[in-house]
Amino acid sequence: MRRKNRPALIAFAMRTLSSIKTLQKILQPLHGRKRIGFVPTMGAFHEGHLALMRQARRECDYVVVSLFVNPLQFGPKEDFAAYPRPITSDRKKAQETGVDLLWTPAAEEMYPSPYRTFIEIEEITRRWEGAVRPGHFRGVATVVAKLFQIVRPDRAYFGQKDYQQTRVIHQMVKDLHFPISIRILSTLREKDGLAMSSRNQRLSPAERAAAPILFRALQKAEALVRKGARESPPLLQEVEALIRSEPLARLDYAALCDPKFLEPLERIQKGAVLLLAVKIGSVRLIDNVLIDI
Ligand code: PAF
Repeated sequence: MRRKNRPALIAFAMRTLSSIKTLQKILQPLHGRKRIGFVPTMGAFHEGHLALMRQARRECDYVVVSLFVNPLQFGPKEDFAAYPRPITSDRKKAQETGVDLLWTPAAEEMYPSPYRTFIEIEEITRRWEGAVRPGHFRGVATVVAKLFQIVRPDRAYFGQKDYQQTRVIHQMVKDLHFPISIRILSTLREKDGLAMSSRNQRLSPAERAAAPILFRALQKAEALVRKGARESPPLLQEVEALIRSEPLARLDYAALCDPKFLEPLERIQKGAVLLLAVKIGSVRLIDNVLIDI
């Protein structure tokens, strides 16, 4: 019998744990019986993360979210220490979204010393983010391969905002024969078009006001293509000029590429992806659009 002041049983309780062994023990009886959906994250959840979790919830029987700020994908001058880690609110958001298990592995367990095994994906990592952030995709691919290996999900969910990352993961899953279906969800945007990202929290009010310039540049490119533009160089010049018109913005790259291998295109033929990386003050933002013709 329930005592008077004791709350009624909570209908749904999310498990939170960090041990790899415990996680595997929980998942082992589910493999082959239940569809396991997996959302790998570095935390600081925003609506974009929650959309991935909701999609996994809709499509799968059991939803695992990993929260691991992966040191391996940060360069020496990047923001690993400063990366936001609001674990209490992350846990609450995941629980409210219907996640079954929030896994928060420790760096010492993920990379026991001495650690010697890395995944390198060639060609597709050579340009763009790969060129600006040497070692970044080696870190991403290594951790995602390890997470996949540990969780063994049926489906894994990623956001289109990190377009090159999605291509790297597709390539790795294919090359390493992971029996995992990769789901890419469209970028979620703020009302003014700014792509949702954990980094947006670090923008000052003035920088936040300047940041939608990325979205406006993507829209401009789409409009030019709709009007018949097909040659990349003049189109990119227009995009660059718009970015330059914003005093707080500094363009890292704007590139029109084939959507699979991310090789630059001279002429837009059967679709293309426009990749953008722009520094707004000290915060580096990326965005992209798939251009349909
Ligand atoms: O996109 C991210 O948040 C990270 O790169 C990922 C895929 C969780 C790997 O650490």
